[in-house]
Amino acid sequence: MVVSREVPMEEYIQMAMEAREKAYAPYSDYLVGACLVTKEGAVFTGCNIENRALTPGNCAERTAFFKAISEGNKEFSRIVIVGGKRGKELIKTTPCGVCRQVMVEFCDPETFEVCVATGPRDYEVFKLKDLLPHAF
Ligand code: THU
Repeated sequence: MVVSREVPMEEYIQMAMEAREKAYAPYSDYLVGACLVTKEGAVFTGCNIENRALTPGNCAERTAFFKAISEGNKEFSRIVIVGGKRGKELIKTTPCGVCRQVMVEFCDPETFEVCVATGPRDYEVFKLKDLLPHAF
């Protein structure tokens, strides 16, 4: 989906929340949703997907990135993340180190925004360069 108008953060947060409803996390019960926005305004959502063997699990952020990249997108402006334990209040969930490294591969650390939200109007925005300084 490409959106050409200025989209309020609230809408991206809502899309991340809807993606979170699809999370498959029976082992941690920590449900995460992400909404990744390309520079041209297309949106790709993702959720975390766990596995009984643990290591095959995937974070919501990488699910969104891999969906987008596999459909030919390589330029991104921001990602919005919502996470927290099932049935509890949302917690500001910053991306894990592996996801940060994936972001650095495809995003400009100076401009790419990582937004962690706990509600439609409650969020914090980080620049990628601050989340992964001195990146490889
Ligand atoms: N998780 C994410 O999907 N994104 C994050 O930013 C942090 C952690 C997932 C991985 C695992 O399925 C669960 O949350 C608990 O760590």
